[in-house]
Amino acid sequence: LEAWFQPKPLAGCRVLLTAGPTFERIDAVRGITNTSSGKMGFAVARAAWEAGAEVTLVAGETPLPTPIGCRRIDVRSAEEMLGAVEAELRGTDIFIAVAAVADYYVLNQSEHKIKKDAHILTLELAPNPDILARVACGDNPPFCVGFAAESENLLEYAEAKRHRKQLPLLVANLVQQAMGADDNEVILLDDQGQHRLPRGPKLEVARQLIAHVARLYGER
Ligand code: CTP
Ligand code: CA
Repeated sequence: LEAWFQPKPLAGCRVLLTAGPTFERIDAVRGITNTSSGKMGFAVARAAWEAGAEVTLVAGETPLPTPIGCRRIDVRSAEEMLGAVEAELRGTDIFIAVAAVADYYVLNQSEHKIKKDAHILTLELAPNPDILARVACGDNPPFCVGFAAESENLLEYAEAKRHRKQLPLLVANLVQQAMGADDNEVILLDDQGQHRLPRGPKLEVARQLIAHVARLYGER
């Protein structure tokens, strides 16, 4: 095993992460999900473990193997993800939200498989809770890190998101580059400004991110 972090900057820290897509049920056999692979979140979980942290990973549906050293909790919907995060929050020092959480769930879901007919079928979508905003705006929050997936106006939208959710650190990436890919290229936004990380495999990017998180967490 490579020892990338030496010494270990997150030794003694508890890190909680979300990763992967969520799945919102339509009926007994169908649902709404997205193209997140979970690779970035799983890489960040692994990097946090390499940095010495005790890591809990709340994961949406993905076939990825559990990163070494991490405790994994599998969930399906955004509501289940929120429940798992709330149950694990006590004692968390750093919360990193990498999951691509569905912004809506299906209000008129059906217990049985919906049968086709000749009419227009309408799905009613109601907003999901924002897991990261709930954690970051709660009392005595952990150090919170968000990801912003944007398809345009990256820095403007991402900085607005960072302020709205009161985050000390936000990782901005373009969905065209990030979602499902093996490489990523991100810009870190914090109170000091913008830090562009070199494009590379997700584990390399994750290690640079964790090094930055550990610096900010140490200085806070
Ligand atoms: N997030 C979350 N719960 C949600 C939606 C988003 O925890 N219900 C988190 C994501 O894990 C990510 C950050 O919030 O860390 C930003 O997610 P993103 O989808 O980029 O932003 P939104 O606030 O959902 O806004 P929009 O999708 O409209 O850009
Ligand atoms: Ca969203």
